[in-house]
Amino acid sequence: MTVLPLPAAALASRVATARHFLMTTPTHFDVTYVINPWMDPGQPVDAVLAGAQWSTIRELYLSLGHRVEVVDGEPGLPDMVFAANAATVVEGTAYGARFRTPQRAPEAAHVAGWFAERGVRVVAPTAVNEAEGDFAWTGEVLLAGTGFRTDPGAHAEAQEVLGVPVVSLHLVDPRYYHLDTCLVVLDDAADRAATVAYYPAAFSPGSQKVLARLFPDAVLADAADAACLGLNAVSDGRNVVLAQEATRLADLVAERGFVPHLVDVSELRKAGGGPKCVTMELRGLQLDDRS
Ligand code: ARG
Repeated sequence: MTVLPLPAAALASRVATARHFLMTTPTHFDVTYVINPWMDPGQPVDAVLAGAQWSTIRELYLSLGHRVEVVDGEPGLPDMVFAANAATVVEGTAYGARFRTPQRAPEAAHVAGWFAERGVRVVAPTAVNEAEGDFAWTGEVLLAGTGFRTDPGAHAEAQEVLGVPVVSLHLVDPRYYHLDTCLVVLDDAADRAATVAYYPAAFSPGSQKVLARLFPDAVLADAADAACLGLNAVSDGRNVVLAQEATRLADLVAERGFVPHLVDVSELRKAGGGPKCVTMELRGLQLDDRS
C-alpha cells in the first residue's frame, strides 16, 4: 500500500484575524414582496426560528472573538436584516448603498444615520449599488458584481471613493442575483494571494475567464453547493460560517485548511439570504464610543 502525501494546500495553516461586523436585528424580517426568485410571500417565515438563526450566527462570531455592532431593524423594512447590502467599508472608508428596488430603498438612510451618530460619514452614492451584496474585498482588489442589482457605474464610483482597484464581474443567473450568493473570499490577507470559492455557472463566460486568471487555485463550487446558498458564507481567514446543507463545499474548504462552521439558515434563505447577507464587515473603521 502506498501512502499518498497530503496535498500542499491541506498543510497550509490558516490564521483567523479579528473582525468587526455589523448586523441588523431580525425583529421585522419577513417575506412580503418578490424581488428575487427565492422569495414567495405564500411560504410563511417562522419569525421565532429566524430570530434564533440570526442569534446563532451572532453568537458564533462573538465566540470566535469578533466584535459585532447591532443596528435595530425598522418596521416595514422586512429585508433590512440583510445588513451586508447597506454600505461597503474598506480601510476605514464607508461607501453607501443605493438600492435597486423601492421596497428596500429606505434602508440605506437608516444605516447611514446609525454611522453618522457614531462619527462616521458614509459617502452617498450616485449609482445604484447594493454594497457588499455585490462588492467583495479580497485584500487587494474589490470584486464587483453587476447584472441584476448593482449598476456598472457604481463599480467606477466605488473605485474612486474607496481608492482600491475594482474588477467587474457579470452575473447571469437570477438565482444568484448578488455576487455574495455565488462567490466568497475565504482568505483576504493582504500579504498573499487571496483564496476564493465561487460557482462558475453564475458568471458570464468572460467573467469566468477573469476569475480563473485571478484565482487559479480557487475552490470551485458545484450546483448543489450554490443552490443552498452555501457560498453566502463569512470567513475570518480560518473559520468559515456557511449553510449547513453545503456539506461538499465545507469538505472542500476544510481540505484547504479552513474550519467550516455549519449553521441553519432555512428562514433567511426564504428571502434569498444566508450568513453573509446578514453580516456587514467594518474594515478598519473607528466608531465613536457612545458609552
Ligand atoms: N431579499 C433580499 C433582496 O433580494 C435578500 C438580500 C440578500 N442579501 C445579500 N447580501 N445577498 O434584496
